[in-house]
Amino acid sequence: SQLLISKNPNDPPLVFHWLPYVGSAVQYGTDPINFFVRCQKKYGNVFTFVLFGRRVTVALGPKGNNLILGGKLSEVSAEEAYTHLTTPVFGAGVVYDCPNNMLMEQKKFVKVGLSIENFRQYVGMIVNEVEDFLDTDPAFFQYQTGDINEWGKFPAYKKLAELIILTASRTLQGHEVRESLHKGFADRYHDLDGGFTPLNFLFPNLPLASYRKRDVSHKAMSDFYISIIEKRRQENRIEEGDMLSALSQQTYKDGRPLTDREMAHIMIALLMAGQHTSSTSTTWCLLHVVANPEIADALYKEQVEHFGQDDGSLASLTYEELKTLPLLDAVIRETLRTHPPIHSIMRKVISDIVVPPTLSAPRDENRTYIIPKGHFVLASPAVSHMDAAYWKDPEEFDPYRWFDQSGAAAAALDSYDNGGDKIDYGFGQVSKGTESPYQPFGAGRHRCIGEQFAYLQIGTVISTLIRRLEMRIEKGVPEHNYQTLITQPQGECGVLYRRRPDPKKN
Ligand code: HEM
Repeated sequence: SQLLISKNPNDPPLVFHWLPYVGSAVQYGTDPINFFVRCQKKYGNVFTFVLFGRRVTVALGPKGNNLILGGKLSEVSAEEAYTHLTTPVFGAGVVYDCPNNMLMEQKKFVKVGLSIENFRQYVGMIVNEVEDFLDTDPAFFQYQTGDINEWGKFPAYKKLAELIILTASRTLQGHEVRESLHKGFADRYHDLDGGFTPLNFLFPNLPLASYRKRDVSHKAMSDFYISIIEKRRQENRIEEGDMLSALSQQTYKDGRPLTDREMAHIMIALLMAGQHTSSTSTTWCLLHVVANPEIADALYKEQVEHFGQDDGSLASLTYEELKTLPLLDAVIRETLRTHPPIHSIMRKVISDIVVPPTLSAPRDENRTYIIPKGHFVLASPAVSHMDAAYWKDPEEFDPYRWFDQSGAAAAALDSYDNGGDKIDYGFGQVSKGTESPYQPFGAGRHRCIGEQFAYLQIGTVISTLIRRLEMRIEKGVPEHNYQTLITQPQGECGVLYRRRPDPKKN
């Protein structure tokens, strides 16, 4: 029906399309970043496109990011944009199936579980998982033989996704999940994940087998977490260091503790939020490292400098030391600049938004756009990540660009709240939170809380692989695949490897 509404002079420009209902779905779905950049050239930073009957207004650049990520609660709603996708997967009563103030409380509860004390334990656990994997997984046969001259090959995306679920379950998810991983949990995760796709976002109620599988798996997984909670309660047991134990000790501001179902559903939400984001990021990171032998060598040297011992072996990684490895940090930071996993951050407009003329300028500086209630708004920090106005040679993967920034920039990017402080990226002052050209973790009230955990997980996995293996790549770094909700590398991403000469166990 919106398509029949006559054009209002304050409407942002509408992207030209031939097919009335489908709109620009094909261009957006095939390569959203390229589509946005083309539209930006033609229409300016703010424009509307049609996506299967929805009107989606995109606002680009740091100011556009600010409009959406810093948007008022009375104007934009994440729950109205996402709930039909996320609630069948995460479950009732959490994240977008509750009022925003409850989500804010739930995020604080999760933060308690993401503590430094827990992180200290996690580093060793992740190293163990990676080492066991290298010692047992058939893809690493040539490593297992101990022959330093023999090259093997592993499909990086598949194997790193396995490592991410193994390490997340060993740490955050708790030992019960880790022990069940190969006894049905992984299959359930797989079916649940099959319900977390662009199709589910666009058409929430199709009578498809994958939707039924999603629902069956959700129920089974939710019940599984409940059984863990009940068993721990019966045995009066608190497992120090995992997320369930942190959640079980929290209460809402009104004094009510979380229900068992809420805890179960938060656990599922965390599993889903961290899995693809971290596994794709780890894969892109590894691919860039092995495609640049100088960077791979420098990363190994960094390990030797920080952990080398008199007998030539490397000391164990620790959380504290991990945080002081500038190249590793910069490599992850640069990976998230060039391949942020989330290309579109959406909100539903719940009351008209007046767009400041500075945003529509220079194209329409005399016109004030109004984004009407009922539209979706979309921020794509990925576009600013590649904008030559903010980054020198943006297409280049250059971790050393982060060395020019003082630690202050990194610290500001890590901050959770948008305090409005200014930082300098070398291109003038920008505000650190919602109006930043670098937002792989989003900004504002919906900003990611998994950032530090993701750095720890990716950093530990990459360090452990670099310590054990010499790696190279047959083809270059692959193109993006935008067919999934989380941007993936195309193909199987084969990486060649051989055991490093020093066979000592570190
Ligand atoms: C939110 C990115 C890992 C939990 C977000 C958002 C982004 C993001 C862009 C904002 C979404 C929005 O505004 O609509 C990433 C990236 C990751 C990562 C790039 C890894 C490289 C994780 C992990 C966890 C996690 C490991 C859990 C342990 C969350 C949660 C939210 C969130 C709870 C809040 C949602 C909200 O308030 O609406 N993440 N994430 N993320 N992420 Fe992450």
